[in-house]
Amino acid sequence: MKENLSIDLKNTGSFVAYEEVFALAQRSVIHLDSLNSGNGAGNDFLGWFSLPDDIISQLDKIEKAAKHLRSVSDTTVIIGIGGSYLGSKAVIEALSHSFSHMQRKKHHDILFAGQNICEDYLADLLEILDDRNYSIIVISKSGTTTEPAIAFRILKDHLERKVGKAAAADRIIAITDSSRGALRSLADLNGYDTFDIPDNVGGRYSVLTPVGLLPIAVGGFDIKAIITGAKAAEGITRHNRNAAANPSLMYAAARNLILQTGRHIEVLVGFTPKLHYLLEWWKQLYGESEGKEGKGLFPASVEFTTDLHSLGQYIQEGQRILFETMISVRNPVKKCTIPSEKDDSDQLNYLAGKRLSEVNLNAEKGTLLAHNDGNVPVITINIPVLDEYYLGQLIYFFEMACAISGYILDVNPFDQPGVEAYKKNMFALLNKPGFEEEGKKLRERLKG
Ligand code: PA5
Repeated sequence: MKENLSIDLKNTGSFVAYEEVFALAQRSVIHLDSLNSGNGAGNDFLGWFSLPDDIISQLDKIEKAAKHLRSVSDTTVIIGIGGSYLGSKAVIEALSHSFSHMQRKKHHDILFAGQNICEDYLADLLEILDDRNYSIIVISKSGTTTEPAIAFRILKDHLERKVGKAAAADRIIAITDSSRGALRSLADLNGYDTFDIPDNVGGRYSVLTPVGLLPIAVGGFDIKAIITGAKAAEGITRHNRNAAANPSLMYAAARNLILQTGRHIEVLVGFTPKLHYLLEWWKQLYGESEGKEGKGLFPASVEFTTDLHSLGQYIQEGQRILFETMISVRNPVKKCTIPSEKDDSDQLNYLAGKRLSEVNLNAEKGTLLAHNDGNVPVITINIPVLDEYYLGQLIYFFEMACAISGYILDVNPFDQPGVEAYKKNMFALLNKPGFEEEGKKLRERLKG
């Protein structure tokens, strides 16, 4: 049997006692029970926690659709924002070759659009797509989000002009609500292949649905292994009322107790650039789930050792308002060893013969102790290797902890009412029908 993800609280002990963490985790079993019985806040959005079982029947269909896109194109553009792109981007970046865009060997490129409204970004993308044989996966649960809707309008037009309307329809897949929203109507009208986003799964909890799995499968990665990993994490979290052995309960309890010590910022740390977008995915998951009613930790992230040469100084000696959660990956996938040099002019021979991972691991340990000495509590989450299986574990573990943590804070972790404020102003300023009056008021305000 494979080992499971684990959590290490040794380096939080001088800030919050292990017994306190355990006690809160044990009390929080009621939140786990609420999630399992569906009687807590946001209980119409609990579909995510049974996904490791519920999605299995769809995996073959997802793989078949991915195979089709890979066979008709060399590039797929994923259009989506927030929960509709971060999960797949996180997994694809974690598993891809670091320089995949420069690899000579033939592979399928995954590009992203609709996650911003930057004109130069989209214009650059269109220039690249002029020379590519590409497909599109457009993802929006509401089917009405402005950023992906604009990107899809532009790319659909580009693709139809490039290959014709019928061929374009054959290489566009829409992932959206089963019946509602503009994207659903558009897909039905044009005969696109579609996947449904279950009603009871919110955007940021949707990576284990076709929202995340189809792009990941098109990228050539093993979605069955991701689900197997998520299922294992479900076993040790959702179905585990023994708090000490439930990493989601312990993590949720520890971070909330650390918050009570006045540390309002949680910095998620990775020691590999491959985790960059997993950190971004986590920030969205926790930021949107907890940041409401004047509550919640501010989720931030750093990549070490890179950021030890920028934010490291602040973390070591700046305001004591933060703590760290380090994702520790024990083994690399590949091998790179430091050579010996005859004259040792760079004085690195003491490292000769060592693998970079050993140096990195010691940087990690040294950083942990230094930050601890600087009054920074450090939670560690351990996985043996960054592969599909452990990404599945990490995703499910973090989702479960987020839901429990939201309940500890007494907020609904499944809504995001605050996201509407900027949208209303943007619509008003752009004179969207129905927003004219508000537009006048905002323009006055902007005049000063
Ligand atoms: O978590 C969420 O619900 C949001 O971040 C959404 O994923 C994001 O706003 C995109 O929404 P949609 O999929 O409806 O386009």
